[in-house]
This record gives sequence, structure tokens and C-alpha cells, in this order.
Amino acid sequence: MTAQVIDGKAVAAELRRGIAARVAALPFRPGLRVVRVGEDPASGVYVRNKDRAALEAGFDSATIHLPEATGEAELLEVVARLNADPVVDGILVQLPLPRHIDADRVIAAVSPGKDVDGFHPLNAGLLAAGRPGLVPCTPKGVMHLLRAAGCSLAGARALVLGRSGIVGRPMAQLLLAADCTVTVAHSRTRDLAAECRRAEILVAAVGRAGMVRGDWVAEGATVIDVGINRLPDGRLTGDVDFAGVSRHAAAITPVPGGVGPMTIACLLENTLEAAVARRGA
Ligand code: GUN
Repeated sequence: MTAQVIDGKAVAAELRRGIAARVAALPFRPGLRVVRVGEDPASGVYVRNKDRAALEAGFDSATIHLPEATGEAELLEVVARLNADPVVDGILVQLPLPRHIDADRVIAAVSPGKDVDGFHPLNAGLLAAGRPGLVPCTPKGVMHLLRAAGCSLAGARALVLGRSGIVGRPMAQLLLAADCTVTVAHSRTRDLAAECRRAEILVAAVGRAGMVRGDWVAEGATVIDVGINRLPDGRLTGDVDFAGVSRHAAAITPVPGGVGPMTIACLLENTLEAAVARRGA
């Protein structure tokens, strides 16, 4: 079998076109503010890409770039100001934050209705309870990709590799909400290869280059690679051995060009949802 390659760039472009059309029909421009603290170079690239995509889709978007030495109290004041600002519908505080700032405290300070990252404990709780709320962008993007690939979800055995609060845990909740039978595997899982081989849907989000090998994957499985790992030569690669797994899977996402573009598209989707919910359009 040679896997169908799921084109995340194309799926994301279509989602963004749909969002832009919905924004154009609104009587206001949804407002997004991205807060970046310090000079982490990868964060600089991500924040620029988010801002550009938001402007292209017709949002009122701006980045607030604060110096590395910004104190936690000062950052909390910026968040409070954005919470109170009526033109702001979505707030995203780019992670990682400098080490002297408690990221959990900052995330909990964002108004849950403006929490377009879906990281606030209230939104995490709503997702775990199976109730509507703002959902983290990367796992939400994975669900769009699975549906775009025509993957049948109800009753499918899904395995999520990784248990982070940003990807693994919300991913498992979304698959459960879509009626999959979900297993969450992690670094302490016994016989990881055997667990992976049982999966009809495998989502890898561990941050270890090429960890999922061809013989870990069942014939005909759908494999989603959330990993973004930089090789010593500078190239980006996923958590999945793409060539090896492609020989067994029915469908697979590439890195780059798979999940990555969906994360930004879903940030726009969340901002639009937050704006409509808050302003009642
Ligand atoms: N840093 C890397 N990915 C993300 C993300 O999705 N949201 C935020 N806030 N920071 C990130």
C-alpha cells in the first residue's frame, strides 16, 4: 500500500477562504491580539505568520511585543487591559514565556471567552466534560484533517501518542467526542509498538524525530504527525518515519505541510467563533 498524502496546506487554505468570507459578511472586524514576550526566534516566526494570516482573512490583528525583562505583574496588566477592550475578541499569549513568568498564571488570567488558544482551565474543563467551548488549535486542526481525508471516526480505534495539555490530552477528548475508542500512550506505556499497531487512527505528538516506524503501523491506518523536530542539518521532520509508514498507512500527513498550516487556520476559526459568541452576530 502507498499512503494518500493529506495536504494540510490545501485544507487550511480552504478553511481560511471560508473564514474570510464569513468575516467579510460581518458588520465588524473580529479583533485578535497576539502577545509576545522576549526574543525567542521561533516564536517570532510563528507570531508573524499568525498576524499575516489574520490580516489576510480580514481580521483586525496586532502583535504586542514586550521586552524579555517584562515582569509577570506587568504582563498580567496587559492581559487585563485586553480582556476589558471591547474591540478585542481573541487573545493569544505566545509560549514559551521567559522563565521568570508563570505561564499557567498568565493563561488563567485570559478571559475564557477570549481564550482563542483554548488553554484556559475553564475551556479545558468544558472540553473534558463534552461541552462547547474554545478548543486548542492544533488538535482542532487534526480533526479537520481527519474529516477532509474521509476517515470514518465513529467506533474507530484511535491512539494518541503524547499526553501534553496543548495537544495530546485535548486531542484524545476531541476523538472521544467524535465517537472513537481512544487510547492515550506516553513515555511509560508498555510495548508502545504493539499499542500503535492496534490503531486505525494514530496521532503522534511526542516531539521525537522519526519515532513511529513503518512496522508500528497497521495496514490501512490513518497517521497524523503533529511533531515538528529540527534535524542537525536544519531540516524539519515529524515524529513519524514518513517513508517507512507510507508503505503501510492508507493516509498520512507530511511535515512540513500537514498539521502546521491547520493550527493557524484554527486560530482564525476560534477568533471568529469567539467574536460571534461575544458580540452576537
Ligand atoms: N507556541 C507554540 N505553539 C503555540 C500555540 O499554539 N499557542 C501559543 N500560545 N503558543 C505556542
